[in-house]
Amino acid sequence: MYRTHTCGELRMDHVGQEVNLAGWVQTVRKFGSITFVDLRDRYGITQLLFGESLNNQLDETPLGREFVLQVSGTVTERTNKNKNIPTGDVEITVSSYKILNTAKTPPFTIQDDTDGGDELRMKYRYLDLRRNEVKKNLELRYRVNRSVRNFLDSRGFMDIETPFLIKSTPEGARDFVVPSRMNPNEFYALPQSPQTFKQLLMVSGYDRYYQIVKCFRDEDLRADRQPEFTQIDCEMSFVEQEDILNTFEDMVKHVFQEIKGITFNEPFPRMTWDHAMEFYGNDKPDIRFDMKLVNLTDLVKGQGFKVFDEAELVVAINAKGLSEYTRKQLDELTEWVKRPQIGMNGLIYVKYNTDGTLKSSVDKFFDETKLKTWAEKAQAQPGDLILVLAGREERTRKAMSELRLEIGERLGLRNKNEFKPLWVIDFPLFEYAEEENRWVARHHPFTSPKPDQLALMDDTTKYGQIKANAYDIVLNGTEIGGGSIRIFQRDLQEKMFAALGMSPDEARHKFGFLLGAFEYGAPPHGGIAFGFDRLCSLLGGSESIRDFIAFPKNNSGRDVMLDAPSSIDDAQLQELRIDLVKEIKQ
Ligand code: AMO
Repeated sequence: MYRTHTCGELRMDHVGQEVNLAGWVQTVRKFGSITFVDLRDRYGITQLLFGESLNNQLDETPLGREFVLQVSGTVTERTNKNKNIPTGDVEITVSSYKILNTAKTPPFTIQDDTDGGDELRMKYRYLDLRRNEVKKNLELRYRVNRSVRNFLDSRGFMDIETPFLIKSTPEGARDFVVPSRMNPNEFYALPQSPQTFKQLLMVSGYDRYYQIVKCFRDEDLRADRQPEFTQIDCEMSFVEQEDILNTFEDMVKHVFQEIKGITFNEPFPRMTWDHAMEFYGNDKPDIRFDMKLVNLTDLVKGQGFKVFDEAELVVAINAKGLSEYTRKQLDELTEWVKRPQIGMNGLIYVKYNTDGTLKSSVDKFFDETKLKTWAEKAQAQPGDLILVLAGREERTRKAMSELRLEIGERLGLRNKNEFKPLWVIDFPLFEYAEEENRWVARHHPFTSPKPDQLALMDDTTKYGQIKANAYDIVLNGTEIGGGSIRIFQRDLQEKMFAALGMSPDEARHKFGFLLGAFEYGAPPHGGIAFGFDRLCSLLGGSESIRDFIAFPKNNSGRDVMLDAPSSIDDAQLQELRIDLVKEIKQ
């Protein structure tokens, strides 16, 4: 037997027992004629004591870090106990051992506070995965996975797999495509989500479906976006929005209870999309703190200050307690809003000093009485700092939402151990894509309009007003899930495709299978998909989903360990009848 116990298992109760352990050498410490070795496996670390009789053998072949070792010996009480590890009361007095494999010195230390940089750890991800920090994240992911499955199973959901080699599913990103050798010049697309399949399963009568499934999207990457990521994908028949929200609110509560021991007694708050945009500047408000956006446009226009007069939107936040911000800090904040990611030309401030006076960067144009009206609108008190942005509506709102988060961060209001879930509801059905000069679906083309707004679908000028039966679930400012009640009638689906600028031919060519299915008894249905990686990273208290994925890609979409993507050989290309673009080939 390679091992009788794991390296995390032995306690005082085992003292006197003969055991076998196997694992990796974490550290070797030699003191005269005795040697201590920390042996590590997935379960923990156990100290080994090599006495004098084994010294010669150890001198001949010294043990190195990460050697794979098997030892036999007796569990002994330690003289110097280590309270920091669960096995710290005991050690193994080794009677014999065997090196199962040697190891080169690893490129970074396999410890919590490793000396390895990001790129190096990704290149040797299999070593990085030995580290406690990373292991803890994967264990959490597994527990969340099990918790979700148990919950959905208890509610009668059935896990059904759907294919990966498919035709495009529009979810707003580019597709990854796969050439088909057997069908030259033709390509599969990898699913951006199983959207159309889960709807077809509803038509087939599998009225509660789920899948924890890989999705593929070729889009710009960020800390919370990977080109392949995992969804908890769900769909239900004979439901309304309320049924979906209740079911999946229960699921989130169940997971929090099991994983974090946190009970949410109250129903999750709900906020309309309009409200979220107006008061938080985005559709995924972080409601761990207040600091709502305050619209000053009407109050400040027409008083001779060009920046305001030319602006579509003048918006403020009240940074509570920051009136003492120095000139230097304000300059630095101004530079912050001028960064290309934020894109503003400048920042205006009003200090509401503790002595009750008001001092602003626009004193030339606005006297104290005027500033006071701003302060009232922003519910500012002496000691507060009002920050104002002005410009084009969309950009300014977005910039202010970023500034709000930044100030929230600086004020320590974004505690990662506090969890504030929120449903955002009543999304617009369409959104205008300036570059493409057409309306696109805000969620996806299978989302139904609110029933009382169906008539607006006949009038292009009203598209912007139509609200959808669509909802997102937001946790601490991150969108962790989204879904909708679907269209299930062929004529309405055709109308939707037409509204998105698709000709009837194109619609049939791309989605004939779905339109056809709707003619064979499609039930009313709806669903939701959660970003599983995002949910795990929030539960684990991290910003980056990469930490919760065993083999993630870097920000350029590369797997640096595999060195993928990479070129393929000419024979393979020929078989696929693919010719490469010359300039890139060279
Ligand atoms: P949606 O596109 O909103 O909906 O995706 C659902 C959830 O998946 C997560 N997510 C991502 N996570 C990591 N990396 C990415 N690149 C990425 N993109 C999305 C988000 C998001 O909320 N078919 C619909 C769902 C439905 O209507 O039922 C869909 O895919 O957390």
